[in-house]
Amino acid sequence: MQFKLLALLTLTAARMAAGAESPGETMTRSQCLQCHTLGAGEPHGVGPNLHGLIGRAAGTAPGFAYSEKFLAAMKGRVWDAALVERWLKDTQALAPGNGMTYFQDDARKRKLIVGYLQTLK
Ligand code: HEC
Repeated sequence: MQFKLLALLTLTAARMAAGAESPGETMTRSQCLQCHTLGAGEPHGVGPNLHGLIGRAAGTAPGFAYSEKFLAAMKGRVWDAALVERWLKDTQALAPGNGMTYFQDDARKRKLIVGYLQTLK
C-alpha cells in the first residue's frame, strides 16, 4: 500500500517533470485503459498489452489468449497507423465476432490515439 502510493507519487513527479500529458496520451488512457495496458511489460487486461503495437504482427502479444475469430481474420497482418485507424473505427468489420467491443466514430480522436500509440516503442 505504502509502496504503491510512493510509486504513484514518483510517477506523478516524473510526469510533471516531463511536462503535462499530451492530448493523445490523455485520449488513449481514457479510451483504452479500461481493457488494455500500455506500459512495456505490463500484464494483459481484458485485451492484450498495447506497448510496441505499431509494427507488430496482429495477434502476437506473448501470453494473450486471442479469440479464434480475431486470429482467423487478422493473422498475418501487421499493425500500422492506417490499420489501427480502421480497427478503432469498426473492429467488427475487420474481424467479425472478435472480442473487442469498442467503436470510435470521431476521426480526430482516432488520430490522437494512433499518434500516441506510435510513441509507445
Ligand atoms: C471493452 C474492452 C476494450 C476496450 C475499451 C478496448 N479494447 Fe482493444 N481489445 C479488447 C479485446 C478483448 C481484444 C482482443 C480481441 C480478441 O481476441 O477477439 C482487443 C484487441 C485489440 C487490438 C489487437 C492487438 C494485437 O495484439 O493484435 C488492438 C490494436 C486494440 N485492441 C486496440 C485498442 C485501442 C487503441 C483501444 C482504445 C482506443 C482499445 N483497444 C479499447 C478489448 C478492448
